Amino acid sequence: MKTVAVILAAGLGTRMKSRIPKVLHPILGDPSLLWVLRSLPEDLASALVVVHHGKEQVIIALEGWQSGNLLPCAVQVVDQGEPLGTGHAVRACEAELDRLGALRVVILSGDVPLIPRETVARLSASKGLMLAMELKDPGGYGRIQRNADGSLARIVEEKDATPEERSISLVNGGAYALPWAALKPALHRLDTRNAQGELYLTDAVVDVASQHPIDIGIEPAEELAGMNSRADQAALQASAQARINAAWMTEGVSFLQAGSALIGPRVVLSPDVVVEPGARVEGSIRIGPGTHIGQGSVITGGEIGSDVSIRPYSVLEGAKVGDHSVVGPFARLREGTELQAGVHVGNFVETKQTLLRSGVKANHLAYLGDAEVGENTNVGAGVIFCNYDGLRKHRTRIGRDAFIGSDSQLVAPLAIGDGAVIAAGSTITENVPAQALAITRPALTVKEAGALRYWEKLKNRQ
Ligand code: UD1
Ligand code: CA
Repeated sequence: MKTVAVILAAGLGTRMKSRIPKVLHPILGDPSLLWVLRSLPEDLASALVVVHHGKEQVIIALEGWQSGNLLPCAVQVVDQGEPLGTGHAVRACEAELDRLGALRVVILSGDVPLIPRETVARLSASKGLMLAMELKDPGGYGRIQRNADGSLARIVEEKDATPEERSISLVNGGAYALPWAALKPALHRLDTRNAQGELYLTDAVVDVASQHPIDIGIEPAEELAGMNSRADQAALQASAQARINAAWMTEGVSFLQAGSALIGPRVVLSPDVVVEPGARVEGSIRIGPGTHIGQGSVITGGEIGSDVSIRPYSVLEGAKVGDHSVVGPFARLREGTELQAGVHVGNFVETKQTLLRSGVKANHLAYLGDAEVGENTNVGAGVIFCNYDGLRKHRTRIGRDAFIGSDSQLVAPLAIGDGAVIAAGSTITENVPAQALAITRPALTVKEAGALRYWEKLKNRQ
């Protein structure tokens, strides 16, 4: 059975009041549309994403997800043109659905991010199904009316509903599986005679249901909630956060304050990971057993080994951190940073495009950019790798067991050999061979009683 998914993502999202298309607004770091795409089964023939408003931004995002291998199946974009409603959006896919030889269409909304993978799998395996939920406060959703035998009779949008219809608590979740042969003519029969002057997909669903059995699957409300406003976004984020953190707790992860830790959907934690209050971990990342994520740390992508201590308020951007390393507090590991095992990177140390081999220590106030540092080398406080000459970046290579004295500047390109010692306060502009000592320091002058004369001179000036 050839099943094609259609994901509706062309609307403006007026109620978000944003420059960013609604479907790109994030929940725990992943845009709503990415959540939806990642819920698709791998055996789909293809997924069509219907775009229009902000389509350049959506296309750039899709390309990034595709090249990052984040999508389970092939995805194509269809431009709806001026969006005239959800029915019009699916109609815009007609030629593509025909070309793909679709027999069944699974329709999802790009603004319903928390739909579980298993639910989408059930949709894509069914002959005819729409998802619904029971809400105490059904505001904003289409209300479902059923015939005496339980079959679908009507879906009434809030704006078209009478006060009596508005009190119906069974609402449309906006996710459907429908036979294309019946849906296609139904889309052509749609009209705009409704309060919003739009072509409603819901009318086509009711039309299909009059000829073909369409089951109504009632799902938990938090799984089908839509993101139409900033308040919805906050509520969705809170619900995803509770679900994700609870799941990790059953896998042996401790949260010192689960309500304040934000763990994204692509994060993989291990047993005995401890997450302190206010930590945020997003993107694709695996964190090994026994690792502590310190309070207020922000970690985006990368890879973190086992028994690592990320101390409070550290920022890691795509960094790889080896087992037993210690990072922070207040460290910043930028893109291209790789720490092997047992590395210490302390407070106010910034690294970028830098490999620190096992046992390297850079504990205080340093910038390490475009560099490679050998095993057990010590980088002192205040050391700067001067990697940028104003035009280009250059690399610094340091061997093993070297000692880089505090407050030194290493002007790249530069190579420093194994076991070399750089005296504190030196500015190094040429390569230093293995086991050598390099020092650039003006001679020290000590004037006996000079301090007394200095203060005397200052006072006499007053
Ligand atoms: C829609 C349903 C409503 C249901 C709700 C569930 C219709 C008419 N109404 O209402 O019954 O309870 O979803 O969440 O279908 N979009 C397009 N092109 C358009 C219009 C919308 O691609 O021309 C996209 C939007 O970007 C969005 C999705 O379709 O991702 C749903 O549109 P939205 O305007 O949010 O519909 P609702 O009012 O939520
Ligand atoms: Ca919506």
